[in-house]
Amino acid sequence: MKLLIVNGPNLNRLGRREPGIYGSGTMDDCLRDLRARYPHDEIGYFQSNCEGALIDRLQQADDEGVEGIALNAGAYTHTSIALHDCIRSLSCPVVELHISNVHQREEFRHRSMLAPACKGVVCGFGLDSYRLAIEALKGA
Ligand code: DQA
Repeated sequence: MKLLIVNGPNLNRLGRREPGIYGSGTMDDCLRDLRARYPHDEIGYFQSNCEGALIDRLQQADDEGVEGIALNAGAYTHTSIALHDCIRSLSCPVVELHISNVHQREEFRHRSMLAPACKGVVCGFGLDSYRLAIEALKGA
């Protein structure tokens, strides 16, 4: 399958960003493990701190025939109607994911603007949330 992982703001700092919450693993480690685990799938990766760049990449992925997107939109999860609208416009399934269990954290993280537009949500399993989201997309 042709899959894409998309990370939003501040997720370029994984490994050194609040390791007590997000762990000490880096996205490079995570991608290497995923590509080794699923050698027959194409797993692309994109990260941006900018909402518009995320939207452009999601639209482009759909146009390129990507068959599933694992999206950790970071804090935009809780605020972005524009990302919600974008996801609804895509023909491929999107799984929302979070490294931390957002429901155990501050109340402002309990609400997702994206979840209603997504196929499903994975949260709280550390970097393994990415693998679980990929599994979900492969089974979708
Ligand atoms: C996050 C949770 C969000 O609330 C936060 O803003 C992030 C990371 C997670 O992966 O746990 O940037 O999406």
